Amino acid sequence: MPHVTAFARNQWYVAAYRHEVGREPLGRTLLGEPLVLYRDAEDGSPVALHDRCVHRRYPLSQGVLDGNRIVCGYHGFAYDRTGTCVYVPGQKRVPRTARVASYPVLEQDSLVWVWIGDPALADPRTIPRARHLDAPGWVTVRGMEPVDADYGLLVDNLLDLSHETYLHGGYIGTPEVAETPITTEVDEDAGLVRVSRHMDDAECPSFYSRSTGLTGRITRRQHIEYHAPCLYLLHSRIAPVGAEPEPDGSDPHGFRTEITYAITPSTDGAVYDFWAVSRNWATNDPEVTEFLRTSNHTVVMQDVDALNLLQRTLGSERTGYQELSIGIDTGGLAARRILARLVEEGDKPAEQVR
Ligand code: FES
Ligand SMILES: [Fe+2]
Repeated sequence: MPHVTAFARNQWYVAAYRHEVGREPLGRTLLGEPLVLYRDAEDGSPVALHDRCVHRRYPLSQGVLDGNRIVCGYHGFAYDRTGTCVYVPGQKRVPRTARVASYPVLEQDSLVWVWIGDPALADPRTIPRARHLDAPGWVTVRGMEPVDADYGLLVDNLLDLSHETYLHGGYIGTPEVAETPITTEVDEDAGLVRVSRHMDDAECPSFYSRSTGLTGRITRRQHIEYHAPCLYLLHSRIAPVGAEPEPDGSDPHGFRTEITYAITPSTDGAVYDFWAVSRNWATNDPEVTEFLRTSNHTVVMQDVDALNLLQRTLGSERTGYQELSIGIDTGGLAARRILARLVEEGDKPAEQVR
């Protein structure tokens, strides 16, 4: 069943944006594991614990914070940031086994990353960067949409942008996107897939014409960098035909936009779709900001609706159907291969204590 992708456990995943994690417990389910996220009262660092009280399994995310403790909203069991239960009602002695799992968690580039899997293998240096999300000189609009689809369908969707022409026509899609062939580079060891498309003479879609003011034909470049399993970067460059942007984006006639997605599996058939659009041009123009926010949200919802429908459609198929892949699918197929390997590697250390 190609639409059911197993989870790669020993990996970092984006659980939330920095601004979502605070002094209100936040519940999120990653790779089938319910988590509660909050911020430590003393140093402000994020905490991620298993979201089930050891007593009767009430979600801790329904509880409250009391200093550095999270207090279960049902009968008051209280836990410290390591997940150790430090208080139970009605008796002095706290049972020794009273603890919930805590997960390695790290904030970087305005994202809160959580490691699901064997904590001994969690290496913060392997978290891919998205510096533009939190760098001076950049303005970002962002959001998150839950999708009722297997995360593999979102990976497929993002690695093949030729769908822009059909699913997002009038927003980001023009005929040239689907017409222009891609080049794909795969670094299997690094778990990295790059897909590039260079359009030398293209119509300017409304997403860019209304935000940049460009009205004529443009050169349009899309460079995708997918860091499996979670982080997807789309480096987008547009410029009027004849005014080629420098590789570093310094050409004043060129517009560089960074489009970021975090693809975080929630449960089988559910994925969190974190999306962000960052720009280093027209940074003081609130109208551009609002336009990009609503416009990109519309585009994301077009994908969400399509993927929800696709998931339902695949779910009602008889088994044994065949896909037919073509050139545009090269990046997506490479991503599937890498994900399959990461899933396999994540299954190896069977030291799960929970
Ligand atoms: S379920 Fe949490 S204290 Fe009873
Ligand atoms: Fe899309």
